[in-house]
This record gives sequence, C-alpha cells and structure tokens, in this order.
Amino acid sequence: MTDKKRLISGVKPTGRPHLGNYFGAMKQFVDLQSEYDTFVFIADYHALNFIQDASEMRKLSRELVLDYMAIGLDQKKCTLFKQSDIQEHTELAWIFDTITTMPYLMRAHAYKDAEAKDKEISVGTFNYPMLMAADILLYDAEVVPVGHDQKQHIEYARDTAEKFNRIFGDTFTLPEALILEDVATVPGTDGQKMSKSYKNTIPLFGTNAEITDAVMSIVTDSGGERPEHVYAIHKLFRSEDELKDLYAANVRNYKALKEALAGDIEKMVAPMRERRASISDAEVCEVLQEGGERAKEIASTKMREVKEKIGVMES
Ligand code: ADP
Ligand code: TRP
Repeated sequence: MTDKKRLISGVKPTGRPHLGNYFGAMKQFVDLQSEYDTFVFIADYHALNFIQDASEMRKLSRELVLDYMAIGLDQKKCTLFKQSDIQEHTELAWIFDTITTMPYLMRAHAYKDAEAKDKEISVGTFNYPMLMAADILLYDAEVVPVGHDQKQHIEYARDTAEKFNRIFGDTFTLPEALILEDVATVPGTDGQKMSKSYKNTIPLFGTNAEITDAVMSIVTDSGGERPEHVYAIHKLFRSEDELKDLYAANVRNYKALKEALAGDIEKMVAPMRERRASISDAEVCEVLQEGGERAKEIASTKMREVKEKIGVMES
C-alpha cells in the first residue's frame, strides 16, 4: 500500500506518437511517476474505433509500450498495462451507460464534431466518454494528466462518478485533469494543434531525416521578424532567454533556425531512440504481464464493490 495519490492516463495506439503527444501528455507520466502512484495504459479498446485490422492493432500496441519504456517510464514506479487485459473496464462502462442519458453524451465535442461534418458515428465513438470514465474511476485515480483536448472527457468522468455516488452511495473518487498550460496545445507544422488527424506532426521517434523533413516543412510565411510556428515548437526545447539570442542572431534566416530546432529535437530523442531499440519483445511481454496483474487486483476489488452497490452481487 502507498499513501501517494493515484494518477492514471492512457493513450490510444493509433499511430506513431508525435511531439504534441509527448509534451502534452506522455512526458508528464515520466515526470510524475515518482510523486504519484502511477498507472498508464494502452487504450486499445478506444483505438478499436479507428484501427480495425488485427495485425495493425498488435503492432501499434506493442510499439506504444516500447515508446513508453523508451521515454523513461519505469516498471518499478509505474504500472503499465493494456486496457483490454482488464475486462472490468468494459464491464463498468456498461453500468455507466445505464445511468447516462443520450442528450448528455450528445454534448461531447467529439460527437458534435462528427455530427457537424455529417460523419457516420459508431456507437463506440458515441460511448467513448463512458469507457474513459470507467478507465479512470475503476482505479479511484485523483489525477489524470492529459492535453487540453481531453478536458471535457475528464469532466464526464467526474460527473459520472458524482451521479453513481448519488444513486448508489459513495463509491468513486472524483478525478481531476492535470493540464500543464504551457503545453496544453502543442502546435504542429502549420501552427494548428499538432495532431495525427491534421498531418502536421513531428514524430517523436522518427529518424533524423524524418525529423528534419518535418521541421523544414514548418510554415514560415509569417511576414514578421520571427518565424512564429518554428519558435512555438522551439520553446519546448530551450528557455526563452536562450532562444532570444539565437533568434536575434538569425533574423529572417529561417533555414538556420529550423536546423537549430531539428538539432535540438534530435539531441533529446537520440538517447530515447537508442533505449527503444534495445528493448526486447520478452521485456514488453513481461512489463504488460506484471502491470496487468497489478491493475487487475485493483480493478477487480473495485468491481466487486460496484456490483454489491448495484445489487447484482451479495454483499
Ligand atoms: P492525436 O490528436 O494526434 O490523435 P491523441 O488523441 O492520440 O492525439 O492524444 C494522446 C494524448 O496526447 C492526449 O492526452 C492528448 O491530449 C495529448 N495531445 C495530443 N495532441 C496534443 C497537442 N498538440 N498538444 C498537447 N497535447 C496533445
Ligand atoms: N481519450 C484519450 C485520448 O484520446 C485516451 C484515453 C482513454 C485516456 N482512456 C483514458 C486518457 C483515461 C486519460 C484517462 O487521448
């Protein structure tokens, strides 16, 4: 047992992580893993809304574990597991469905965006916030580090905990989002939010050539003294003081500034890339196995309590 506060977060295995994922969410897990009782999981059932190919799902899930291990998540401090290994997540999501109304879920940004674009939306996507609420509440997590785009989802989890507690008695801890303002929305190569869906990403574990290509494609027609989109990303790597001199020495020399940025990214990534290449399949399996066992213990105890509270199991 530990008296540390519990932290949980997940990332979907939907593609290679980019600098937005890293600075907005993943890095926080590493920075906070000593201070909190940390749980991080591969949100593969959430990803199933996007990845519907078995070999792709297997590959992306395994790669994401490698990514987490390479950035410095330490098995001794952090429980790393796969969402689908813990059946309680989907079981609890169903229970939450029964206390949640359609109009409430229709207010979710993701749903409204899909509606506005006249896209067909799967029931899984519609229901996404309830699975996410289950992910968080099963572990009585107090803190959920995420990027700004996930803020509403954490509010859904909180509301759902309150509603369940009101109907069935005190059961769930109310979670809070942990959003670092400086990195809440990391911009991409076009200045919009960096996102896999916008094709404006700089990959975290790209080769030097991929990183350089992505950096060179940063839009620089700002007209001002400073290429703002380059600077916005550069701020993640160096203090504003350091950047002041560099940018003053290279006014309008966009190429030199981009090369400096690519160099800074590579310097940070190189040791992680090396670590990533040294991790074996057996280690990945072992980490997930051990993490899964720890997660299962907590999730199954909580689920028993829930089942007693709703009256499907004798207390
Ligand atoms: P994407 O938008 O590229 O599909 P995900 O939805 O998989 O990214 O996000 C994974 C995590 O990374 C989430 O916690 C999300 O808030 C965070 N994140 C994603 N993009 C950014 C960004 N540009 N800035 C800050 N955080 C981000
Ligand atoms: N929805 C999150 C995303 O798109 C991933 C996620 C699933 C998550 N379950 C979670 C994040 C629970 C934090 C806590 O990035």
